[in-house]
Amino acid sequence: MPAKIIDGVKMASEIRSEVAAEIKKMARTGVRPGLAVILVGHNPASEIYVRGKVKASNEVGLYSEQHNRPETATTTELLSLVEDLNRREEIDGILVQLPLPAQVDSKKILMAVDPTKDVDGFHPVNVGFLSTQRPGLVPCTPAGVIEILRRSNIPIAGQNAVVVGRSDIVGKPAAMLLLNANATVTVCHSKTPDLPGVCRRADILVAAIGRAGMITGDFVKPGATVIDVGMNKVTDPAVFQRLFGGRLYKSGKREEAFRAKGSTLVGDVHPEVAEVAGALTPVPGGVGPLTIAMLMYNTVKAAKMRRGSSVPEMSIK
Ligand code: GUN
Repeated sequence: MPAKIIDGVKMASEIRSEVAAEIKKMARTGVRPGLAVILVGHNPASEIYVRGKVKASNEVGLYSEQHNRPETATTTELLSLVEDLNRREEIDGILVQLPLPAQVDSKKILMAVDPTKDVDGFHPVNVGFLSTQRPGLVPCTPAGVIEILRRSNIPIAGQNAVVVGRSDIVGKPAAMLLLNANATVTVCHSKTPDLPGVCRRADILVAAIGRAGMITGDFVKPGATVIDVGMNKVTDPAVFQRLFGGRLYKSGKREEAFRAKGSTLVGDVHPEVAEVAGALTPVPGGVGPLTIAMLMYNTVKAAKMRRGSSVPEMSIK
């Protein structure tokens, strides 16, 4: 039986409605949570992400502002912008879109963000809170992964979870959240021997490697849940063919779009996995939309935590 395809767009829209309702409630007490997004330079992917974040903020009723800085911005200039936002009472969330240009000391910038406004959850204080199970701000994409599992009624406690990829943004925090939810967690990376064999032990497989279609059917235990966090732009027709050329996976619409645009967005999971897994998140339309929804949630959470009030219910708390 082919895998159940999890609808991330629908789930994200549910979360956004919940967040919008919470923002309406807060408005009655005269509070409007505010998000500041910093975009440096003209990375096309970053520009698209930031546009999506600002648009979603407006839709749920957050106050938002976008700060664009040139590609030549210095660490000192960005530090002074962050410090200004730290001081402003109407700003509850500060998001520095990554990657920053090479001349900027990214670690220094992320460290300068007030941890109570760190809606990306990248500050070491929030990383520490997560790893010691204290309330704090949790990175949006991993938080979205957990929401998908919870809202799909997929059990986590007692399950074998395998995370492929160990980035600070996705792999490590996803592993920590799964561990906090009582999964038995294995974190794999490029030096892991017998990667397919390790992955095949997973009841929940999280792919966050950044390599188009690397997770093929032989990596997956029949019936497992596969969460695809990959976002890879494919422009090479040979790669497209490897992913979508199989008899079963011929996707007419996607092929048409690929021909017209010269590129398509694919995950880390090969389409053939749909024949093996029990449930699977698609790309696009899986984890991606959840990331923005969780950013909206984190901004409300930051606004509430900063004012000492209780945080709206969400499985990540
Ligand atoms: N660049 C790619 N993913 C992310 C993310 O989750 N947050 C930020 N700030 N930048 C990113």
